[in-house]
Amino acid sequence: MNIILLGPPGAGKGTQAKRLEDSRGMVQLSTGDMLRAAVKAGSEIGRKAKAIMDAGKLVDDETMIGIISDRLDQPDLANGFILDGFPRTVAQAEALDKLLSDKGMKLDAVIEMQVDDAALTARITGRYTCAKCGQGYHDEFQKPEKEGVCDKCGSTEFSRRADDNAETVKSRLEAYHAQTAPILPYYKGKGTLKGVDGMADIDDVTKQIEGILG
Ligand code: AP5
Repeated sequence: MNIILLGPPGAGKGTQAKRLEDSRGMVQLSTGDMLRAAVKAGSEIGRKAKAIMDAGKLVDDETMIGIISDRLDQPDLANGFILDGFPRTVAQAEALDKLLSDKGMKLDAVIEMQVDDAALTARITGRYTCAKCGQGYHDEFQKPEKEGVCDKCGSTEFSRRADDNAETVKSRLEAYHAQTAPILPYYKGKGTLKGVDGMADIDDVTKQIEGILG
């Protein structure tokens, strides 16, 4: 199956995408992770994206569509993919339709994760990730079983994102409401949009998504 997880920053897209990777062998296509890898590698795209990401604004459509087009050509998507963070504008959604049709692929579901803005700042500012395997955690809502040790790979090194601070979260939320939320009627019009209550706890959200995917 090929799906999109849509929702504001901190809605739980990455958390749920990782679970679908583990349970179904689908592949998470996170444009945020791809951009952070480009920043780390110091590539031209990374150099261009860094200041935009640090300001909580969106990288231009042309760059993002190019990145996703190249990624969809990789041979590891036989069990399906989860788009996480793309599309983020109506122009990206329209371009994605064209790309998928040109590549002989299709979308099975677009799942909106509905979360109140008020909950998002606490989720984002408390988030950290295993520096080795990328498993996500939260200071309060998703602690590792043994403090300071990754449940998945045993690493003791963790990192926090440069844009996970209260000030940047404000700009990221503004960008979501102004530029990304208009995608919702686009997919509603096509009849592919489903919603889940992203305010529920993490296991419950997983159950809701599994219920949609069947
Ligand atoms: P990106 O990396 O995509 O960030 P984002 O959309 O802001 O989403 P997040 O990763 O912050 O949130 P998430 O929904 O994955 O939440 P998570 O599961 O981690 O983008 C970063 C930047 O890159 C953008 O600002 C932009 O500049 C650029 N960019 C990327 N794609 C682009 C594009 N297509 N076009 C233009 N620019 C682009 O959960 C958050 C925390 O909450 C975790 O700690 C988790 O443990 C916890 N949590 C999760 N679910 C629950 C729950 N149900 N209850 C309690 N806690 C929970």
